[in-house]
Amino acid sequence: MKEPKDYIIFPLDLPTYNEAMSYVELLQGHVGIFKVGLELFISQGPGILTSIRNAGDSGIFLDLKLHDIPVTVKRAFLAASQHAPEFVTIHCDEGGESLKSVADSNPGNTKILAITVLTSLDKRKLRELGYDEHFSEDISALALLKARIAKEAGCHGIVCSGHEVGMIKKELGNELIAVTPGIRPEWSVVNQDDQKRIVTPSEAVLNGSDYVVIGRPIRDAKNPADAAKIVAEEIASAL
Ligand code: C5P
Repeated sequence: MKEPKDYIIFPLDLPTYNEAMSYVELLQGHVGIFKVGLELFISQGPGILTSIRNAGDSGIFLDLKLHDIPVTVKRAFLAASQHAPEFVTIHCDEGGESLKSVADSNPGNTKILAITVLTSLDKRKLRELGYDEHFSEDISALALLKARIAKEAGCHGIVCSGHEVGMIKKELGNELIAVTPGIRPEWSVVNQDDQKRIVTPSEAVLNGSDYVVIGRPIRDAKNPADAAKIVAEEIASAL
């Protein structure tokens, strides 16, 4: 059965092997999944995935946010899936056909998560990037459009903000896995940073998130394991 701690994805946003593995040791049993992003994967290579797997029974989320021409994305996903992570991320921006060709050729059990709209983007940035008013003024419409494309292409889930997850689940159904970054517990000391569309852990799960990505609030806490425990308690009471 899924326990409250299993909702927590901790991003190993750390530059070295030793720092990453020290957080794995510290948080093993307090979070469900460790996320390996570009920084760690590029600096350490696939060996870091083996080390995390050997350290305990937490899941692995390989957050590569793939975005390239369709054939390159497909081949990169196939290479990533050789390491059998639970999740790999792909941007929606190459369109449904590209996502479908990855989903159709998925050789194993790795789940494909599609990135909708990064939580660091806001209206001003979307306008700057050329999105028309309909989408720049209503980010949830853009997130829903991309989530629909991802679902129809056969992706298992999406990454979206806690503000959009309720509406997306209502429109597209509960079986689409929703992973929500941009989480800031009320007690978090890192409120003034680059995440724009933030919610608390309880708001996220109440809105329908299946997983919450919580990095700096746990990483930078005095006692990261205690911070993860408090987040799990908050999730338990929200559930
Ligand atoms: O909680 P914190 O802001 O430190 O989390 C940062 C992590 O969230 C990074 O690993 C980043 O890649 C991830 N993230 C994400 N999708 C977003 C925004 C952030 O996966 N839309």
